[in-house]
Amino acid sequence: MKWQSFASYDELSAYAARLFIEAIRDNPRIVLGLPTGRTPIGMYQRVVNECSCRDVATFNLDEYVGISCDHPGSYCTYMQEHLFSHIDINPANVHIPDGTATDLAAECARYEQQIAAAGHLGLTFLGLGQNGHIGFNEPGTPFDSRTRVVELTKSTRLANAALFEGEAVPTHAITMGIGTILDSKRIVLLASGESKREAVERLRSGEVSEEFPASALHGHPDVTVLVA
Ligand code: GLP
Repeated sequence: MKWQSFASYDELSAYAARLFIEAIRDNPRIVLGLPTGRTPIGMYQRVVNECSCRDVATFNLDEYVGISCDHPGSYCTYMQEHLFSHIDINPANVHIPDGTATDLAAECARYEQQIAAAGHLGLTFLGLGQNGHIGFNEPGTPFDSRTRVVELTKSTRLANAALFEGEAVPTHAITMGIGTILDSKRIVLLASGESKREAVERLRSGEVSEEFPASALHGHPDVTVLVA
């Protein structure tokens, strides 16, 4: 695991954006795994001016169950707002789990198949939950887990309440599994701010435990952690 520290969130975002753009320059047909949350916003802001993304394919890590794409709290809305509406990506190459599917198990299986059919993730960006979650893989998730429906912890629902403006945060989500994420050729994790300090130090400690989902990344050969 490689570590890079930055003096500010802006510097971290600029560096992450450079990795994003360079990966596409190296391989215009790259398959990207993409995160949501506050942390990657600075990276997306910088990417939109430079990205020539026509042939890129993307798979988002997760989506809430039970809210439609046009709900302001959905990750579908987030991705349109922060990235997809600003770049030239072919909408057919954009993938986000459908949390409104009537058969959620079938939707999860379909998502896994789509990732495999695209040739697997080439580069995946991750955020970090305060409890060490990656995607929506909460503590206790097996490291070989695949895309599935999960129940969100209270603390995660609270941390993500802002976009729901008083409305209840969904109780469940579809998330790529830890095994799905680990299949990515390269992984870049972004962590910024005081609220992530404890999780970052736990990751740095080298402890490997299912109680701390991000620690699964210690078993991957090409992970870079960007910290500010
Ligand atoms: C949500 C997302 C995660 C993200 C995490 C951290 O739980 N499902 O993928 O990493 O939030 O978000 P933030 O960057 O806002 O702290």
